[in-house]
Amino acid sequence: MILPEPPLSCKVYTPKPLAVAMINVIARRERQRWLEPSCGSGAFIEALHDQGISPRDIVGVDLDKNLATADSLGQVSRGCDFLDWSKTRGGRFDCVVGNPPFVAINQLPTLLRQTASAVADLDGMPIGERSNTWYPFMVRAIKLLRSGGSMAFVLPAACEYADYAAVGRSRLTSYFERVDVIRSRRPLFDGVAEGVVVLIAQGKGGTGKHYRRHEVDDLSAVIGRLQSLSNFNARSCPAQRGGSQLEARIRLGDVIDIRIGGVTGDSNYFVLSESERHAQRLPQSAFVPVLSRSKHAFNSDISMTTWESLRAADERVWLFRPEDRHLNQVAVGHYLALCKSEGGCDRSRYKIRLRNPWHRTPLPDQPDLFLTGMSGAGLWMCINEFSSLNATNTLYVGKFKEPQLRREKYAWALGLLTSRVQKQVLRSRRVYADGLSKLEPSQIADLEVPVPPLIRDAISKYRRVVAMFLDSKQSQAMAEADAVFQRRS
Ligand SMILES: C[S@@+](CC[C@H](N)C(=O)[O-])C[C@H]1O[C@@H](n2cnc3c(N)ncnc32)[C@H](O)[C@@H]1O
Repeated sequence: MILPEPPLSCKVYTPKPLAVAMINVIARRERQRWLEPSCGSGAFIEALHDQGISPRDIVGVDLDKNLATADSLGQVSRGCDFLDWSKTRGGRFDCVVGNPPFVAINQLPTLLRQTASAVADLDGMPIGERSNTWYPFMVRAIKLLRSGGSMAFVLPAACEYADYAAVGRSRLTSYFERVDVIRSRRPLFDGVAEGVVVLIAQGKGGTGKHYRRHEVDDLSAVIGRLQSLSNFNARSCPAQRGGSQLEARIRLGDVIDIRIGGVTGDSNYFVLSESERHAQRLPQSAFVPVLSRSKHAFNSDISMTTWESLRAADERVWLFRPEDRHLNQVAVGHYLALCKSEGGCDRSRYKIRLRNPWHRTPLPDQPDLFLTGMSGAGLWMCINEFSSLNATNTLYVGKFKEPQLRREKYAWALGLLTSRVQKQVLRSRRVYADGLSKLEPSQIADLEVPVPPLIRDAISKYRRVVAMFLDSKQSQAMAEADAVFQRRS
């Protein structure tokens, strides 16, 4: 698809000292992932680089295909419409910074216009053509932030009064711990008469809802105010009405990659219990710890200790998967050479014939969680707390597409237990003649889940809710999960 060049009118580049001051307000000591959604010649990317941020942690996008020298300081995608790019990338960044394009949506070429006008506003309605491009940029930036994340944007002064931004103005504070708007009385950019503000929104999902408007003289005063922002108190906004309806939602498959566990092709041969492993004198190191039955994942999370208790109960939780270094060990060689009638592997099976070497079952990358597609209990996630644990294909495994904090993983899992998502689960289940119902990985990926706010006690909360859920108190569990999302959205 060939995208048009950006209009010249939107190519106004941010002075570096302003970019640095904006970045410094939202930068934290810990590692953060940064996004610049319309990076242009790279004022913000250069400023991030100067602050010592690694190119791995800087993502840039711009419609302009012309390379800039700063592109090598981050991972920059050019010739790319941010509003299209951002559709499937919710909840992935700690910080979004930039100076988004100021162009009326109805002046954009067709393709860009259609994408921009279809972006859902903070009330869920399409933004439409009477808005300006910076507005869907801001709305999408909120969606792209992780809980606790912050954004810093240079915006036109129209953001303070334009009708098309009314929903954003009334709701922005409900998404953040603190929002500051700094207005400069004089223009900030050479050759641009329009007024400009700097918007700083910190701590997505925070409950402070503090707001402060600052009015200063010029560029150097804006920079001075940014440098001393924490010295200025902000007042708390009253709770926004209808807050629970504001929660951002996203397709689960855009956040988590869901697939079936390892297909052995002959589970009787490859999946062993501890006593079976002993009987064959096979070394532990030739095995991978796995979950091989739905009941193994019947909990909110699984740790090494829980897995060891399954092993002690002689459950089949070892997957025979020898490496080259094991092949000359007598017991391993003997087990590999067993013929079918002696309990050896049926190597004629399709999956086994296809792979090389035949005894190395392909496994998904270290899963973050396990799911069971077929369970009368409903759908929940069992978070993996044991890094080398994997699963066979009786279970599904999930891996977050972007790194998440431990508590964030539990927060996403909690979202799956909200009543709105569980209703979708019931609707998408395929019920078989024998009464069993099943969800395929693709159906799970298609579920729309809430983007979690900051839930500090997500781990303990999730454990409690899952305990109820698996104890046939599903309605009570869903009500608890709903309450967490409503209270904090
Ligand atoms: C006001 S300039 C800002 C550039 C840079 N952020 C800065 O502050 O120096 C706006 C930038 O948005 C880019 N742009 C316009 N429409 C875009 C779109 N739909 N997706 C990504 N970038 C876009 C333009 O190419 C231009 O580089």
